[in-house]
Amino acid sequence: MADSISHLSPAKCYDAMLNKSDVLLFFANMTLNFVRSVIGFLQENSTIIIASVILVVVLYVCYKCYWNPVFYSKELTDIGFEHIPSGPDRPARITRAQQARKLGHKIPPPYPNGWFAVAESSDLKVGGVLAVDVLGQNLCLFRGEDGVAHCVDAYCPHLGANLAIGGAVQGNCIECPFHKWTFGADGVCKSVPGVEKAPKGVSIKSWHTAEADGAVWIWHDAAGRDPQWGMEYSPGAWGYRGRNEFIVNAHVQEIPENGADVAHLNAVHASSVVTTLAEKYPFLLNIIGCHVWTATWNKGEGHIADLTLTHDYKILKYNLFHIDVTVQQIGPGYVRLMLKTPLGPILVSQSVTPIAPLTQRVVHRVFSPAYNAAWGALVVYNEAYMFERDVAIWNNKIFVGAPAFVKTDKTIKAFRSWFSQFYCENSKSFREAMTNDLDW
Ligand code: FES
Ligand SMILES: [Fe+2]
Repeated sequence: MADSISHLSPAKCYDAMLNKSDVLLFFANMTLNFVRSVIGFLQENSTIIIASVILVVVLYVCYKCYWNPVFYSKELTDIGFEHIPSGPDRPARITRAQQARKLGHKIPPPYPNGWFAVAESSDLKVGGVLAVDVLGQNLCLFRGEDGVAHCVDAYCPHLGANLAIGGAVQGNCIECPFHKWTFGADGVCKSVPGVEKAPKGVSIKSWHTAEADGAVWIWHDAAGRDPQWGMEYSPGAWGYRGRNEFIVNAHVQEIPENGADVAHLNAVHASSVVTTLAEKYPFLLNIIGCHVWTATWNKGEGHIADLTLTHDYKILKYNLFHIDVTVQQIGPGYVRLMLKTPLGPILVSQSVTPIAPLTQRVVHRVFSPAYNAAWGALVVYNEAYMFERDVAIWNNKIFVGAPAFVKTDKTIKAFRSWFSQFYCENSKSFREAMTNDLDW
């Protein structure tokens, strides 16, 4: 080659050397060598690379879980209707099934006395207004400039406008959207445009409020008493990891009764959250593993009852995951579960709020220290998965006022006697509450 081109001029020689195929070959070789060296590098350092990728993914998940609380919700018709086949008329068939369902007998008053969660604290900003329909009431929730959450009846005593729909916060008052009358946190009319003095004796009902575990609570009392206990509960320095939320078709009492119903734990919650296959093929319980529960319910002092739970995840004889749970039932609508797990502590704060006589909004808010934020986020889903099994039963059952109790049900009996303290002679009966909408 060198000889054949030695007689050519430098320019021609250059052209000859750089003909197309040589260039392509050169780059192909270069690419091949590069790929070879990359593969060699990956092979030599595969352990470090895999570990780094895992580390980055874990750090990313932790970062996301720390800054972004997760949210999971299910509506009234989402759970417990799997027996109704799919098709265009499925929603109508679910509605018919709900309407055909018997309600039960000896149903207690639907709105017990106590604190009930009505909103997420974070949803009620300073100057914000929320419409809330709970306990058979239409309420207006607002946060004044003082940063305090206030609650008043929704309807303006002037001409009946809904303060929560279009109303505005002025200082620590709520202003009606219709003629701009303002009402204080105590419900008293403070000002009327064009009138020197606000009319005397004009007011709307105001409700005691509190904030605990990331929620705004109101005190409901059929006898009109002031709050009978305080709400000084907080997750402290622990961070909020998210919540799951369910609309459940059951009486309010039945949700916390689940904790005292020791027998149902291993009947309903044994099969693994990893798969539902074991429900169909029980022998798989030994291979996939299952949850084993023990529980002790104690009628505590006054408005608080205690429950201790143990949970073990077992495969064959091996206990893979032990959790101790200390539970406090605080009044009719609030349960705090403190979980001691191998991956660190978790707080699950449950609120149950009646939005209609047999319709409850149940929310589980999860909190944990920063280091196990990802585990806290996972608990939001795990707990929801377990809870859905109860919801499927609640959405289809009747309320049994006088059950055929057996020995293992003694804690249910004790629970019902404890819970009865939250009713009083002024409590609206179930029948009255059901006809409330027709009360005109
Ligand atoms: S209706 Fe509220 S000010 Fe008139
Ligand atoms: Fe349960």
